[in-house]
Amino acid sequence: MVKIAITKGRIEKQVCELLKKANYDIEPIINKKRELKIKTKDGIEMIFAKANDVITFVEHRIVDIGIVGSDTLMENEYKDYYEMLDLEIGKCTFAICSYPEYKNKKFNRRKIIATKYPNIAKTYFKNKKQDVEIIKLEGSVELGPVVGLTDAIIDIVETGSTIRANGLEIIENICDVSTKLIVNKVSLKYKKEEILKLIDSLERSKIDN
Ligand code: PRP
Repeated sequence: MVKIAITKGRIEKQVCELLKKANYDIEPIINKKRELKIKTKDGIEMIFAKANDVITFVEHRIVDIGIVGSDTLMENEYKDYYEMLDLEIGKCTFAICSYPEYKNKKFNRRKIIATKYPNIAKTYFKNKKQDVEIIKLEGSVELGPVVGLTDAIIDIVETGSTIRANGLEIIENICDVSTKLIVNKVSLKYKKEEILKLIDSLERSKIDN
């Protein structure tokens, strides 16, 4: 049996569509309510977890496969898994966002940046040789500039609705983000055939998209 951890929330529906196209049984996913673990007729066990926990479950071999955004993978510097496939769903961009006046503003102090991704933010500003203060927020990062806590944010932008609704704009794009399939290293050795078959089916249904 192959076990998969899927990130709960916005990508769930798109992952379902890919699995359906690859002829996997998705009824139990559609019919699940608050259940966190389900089994499909194809002998796949799925758990639904927060992005960081998907990585933890893969690294501890609780599951063989994890489906998680490259934003979370980038933020976690220790990587004990294989990244096997870009599912090309949940696509968005990492960007610095702020009020339009940020671009021309002269700062006579360190800039203050809010983010859910402090490691990515640190690396970005280090490469730019800019000394900034980074404040970690757990969600609704846009609140940083809106409430006057920070000058800007580093966050993912998908449709752009959240920044627009709060008077912010993209100041600079940093990199693209999409959903990746990661595999536990030991699982790949012992369940090679099943795992590669699943990856192959997903890759083909992705191409047909
Ligand atoms: C993410 C991100 C932005 C928003 C961007 O937050 O942190 O706030 O989505 O999407 P948009 O460009 O389509 O508006 P999410 O909804 O995952 O929730 P969170 O803010 O609680 O983390």
